[in-house]
Amino acid sequence: MSIMKYLLGIDLGTSGTKTVLFDVTGAAIASSTVEYPMYQPQNGWAEQDPEDWINAAFETIRAVLAKSGIDPKDIAGIGISGQMHGLVMLDEPNRPLRRSIIWCDQRTAAECEEIHARVGKDRLIEITANPALTGFTASKILWVRNNEPEIYAKCRHILLPKDYLRFRLTGEYATEVSDASGMQLLDVPNRRWSDEVLQALEIDPAFLGKVYESVEITGYVTEEAAQATGLAVSTPVVGGAGDNAAAAVGTGVVTDGSAFTTIGTSGVVYAHTSNISIDKKGRVHTFCCAVPGAWHVMGVTQGAGLSLQWFRNNFCSVEIEEAKKRGVDPYVVMDEKAAEVPVGANRLLYLPYLMGERTPHLDPDCRGVFFGLSAIHTRKDMIRAVMEGVTYSLKDCYDILKEMGVEFSEMYACGGGGTSPLWRQMMADVYGCPVRTVRSKEGPALGAAILAAVGTGLYPDVKTACDAMVKSNPQQDPIPENTAKYAEYHKLYQSLYISLKDRYKELAAL
Ligand code: XUL
Repeated sequence: MSIMKYLLGIDLGTSGTKTVLFDVTGAAIASSTVEYPMYQPQNGWAEQDPEDWINAAFETIRAVLAKSGIDPKDIAGIGISGQMHGLVMLDEPNRPLRRSIIWCDQRTAAECEEIHARVGKDRLIEITANPALTGFTASKILWVRNNEPEIYAKCRHILLPKDYLRFRLTGEYATEVSDASGMQLLDVPNRRWSDEVLQALEIDPAFLGKVYESVEITGYVTEEAAQATGLAVSTPVVGGAGDNAAAAVGTGVVTDGSAFTTIGTSGVVYAHTSNISIDKKGRVHTFCCAVPGAWHVMGVTQGAGLSLQWFRNNFCSVEIEEAKKRGVDPYVVMDEKAAEVPVGANRLLYLPYLMGERTPHLDPDCRGVFFGLSAIHTRKDMIRAVMEGVTYSLKDCYDILKEMGVEFSEMYACGGGGTSPLWRQMMADVYGCPVRTVRSKEGPALGAAILAAVGTGLYPDVKTACDAMVKSNPQQDPIPENTAKYAEYHKLYQSLYISLKDRYKELAAL
C-alpha cells in the first residue's frame, strides 16, 4: 500500500482554472489549466458563465489525475482558491440563475450609494472594513434585485465563484473568512456574517453559506462529483481562500513584516497583519486572511496583467507570430522588446484604468490613457509604457500601506507578471525595495493545497506548512539611478488622474 500523500490545489481564476497536484513537500507533480471567456456585454461590465468554471475544474482534475497516475485515494485533501467577489445566484434546484457578475464589473455605482445610505458609510467601514465598492458582491446583489427582480425572486443561495465549485464537489453551501470578507456582508473584525448589514440591506441570511476558517474541512467529495472528476468519494475539501489570501500562503507571506505583489489579471499589493488595520479613506482593503485570527491589507489595481493581455491581443500579432516560431510565450518576446527601451519609455506614460480603478481612486468611470505619444514611438515603447504604468499603479498601493503604518521589509513577486525578470526589476526600482520570488510558480494553487495539508492534519499550522512547502529564490535589488528616474515619472503619472478626473465623468455620461 502506498504511504505517499498528495494534496490538490484548484485555482479558479479569471482567465482560466488551474489544478495542480502537489506532494507534501510542495513539489508540483502534475498541473492542468483550462481557459474560458469573460463576457463584456457593455463598457465596464464583466461576466462569466459558472458552468465554464465547473467544466474547467472537472476537466483539469481529470487531466491531473491521468497525468500523475496516482491513486486518487492518496489525495489527503483538496483546497480551492479563486477570483474574489463574483456573484453566483442559485435557484431552489441549485441552478445558476444568470451569468456571474464578476469582480472587475463596474455597473453598480448607484447600488454603492444605496448601501452607504442604508448602512451609513462610517458604520459600514467599521463592520466590513471597507466602503461600498462596485467590485464587491453586496452591490452586485442589490443590482440584480433592482434591475432583474424576476431573477432575484427565484434566488435561494448566494455563493462566491470558488464556493460554487465547492458546492459542486461536496454539496455544501459554505465559504471561508478570506473570500467572504470581499462580499461586504462579513463582520471582518469578528469573522462572521454581519446581522446588522444583512438587515439594513434586506438580504436573507439563509441565502449565505456557512463561514469557516480557511484551514477547516468544509465537506467531502460526493459520489456524483467523484464520478465526474475521478476523485475518491469522501476526499476532504478545506475552506481554501480567495486568490490573494491563497497566493499569500503559497508565497509564505503568513507572518507580520512580509508582503507580496501579484500581477495577474488584477494587480495586488498585499501585506500580512496580525492586528486589524483599516484605512479610514477606504483606499485599500482589509480582509481576514487564511491564517486563523489574522488579517491582511491590500491595494488593488484593476487592470494589471489585463492591460498587457489587452495590448497583446489587439496590437502584438508580430510578437505572437515570432513567439510561435521560437516556441516561447508571446509575453517573453514582448518582454525582450520592452527591455530594449529605456526607463520612462521615451517619455510615454500609460494609465492602466481599463476597468476603472480601485486603489487609490475608487473610481468606476476612469479609463486607460497613453500620454505623450509621439511619432518617435513604436510598439515596443508602448509595451514598456504599459508595464511601467501598471507598476506605478502598484506603487500607489504600496505607498498607502506604508502610510497606514503596515510594516514590511520583504516583497515577493508572483502571478504571471511576477515571472517576468524585467517587470520584477521595475517593481524593485519603482518601490525602491528588494523583490524576490518563490521557486514554485503555482501561487494560489499551492496556497490552497497548503491549507488542505493543515486542515487534514499533515502539518500543525499554516506557518509550519509554509516552512516545509515554500522555497524562495535570491532577491533582485533596486538600481538607485532607475529609482530616481521612475520617481519623477510616477509623480507625473499621479497628476494625470487628477487632471482627468472630471473628464472621465463626462466621458461616462456620453
Ligand atoms: C481582489 C480582486 C481581485 C480578484 C481577481 O479584491 O478583486 O484580485 O480576486 O483575481
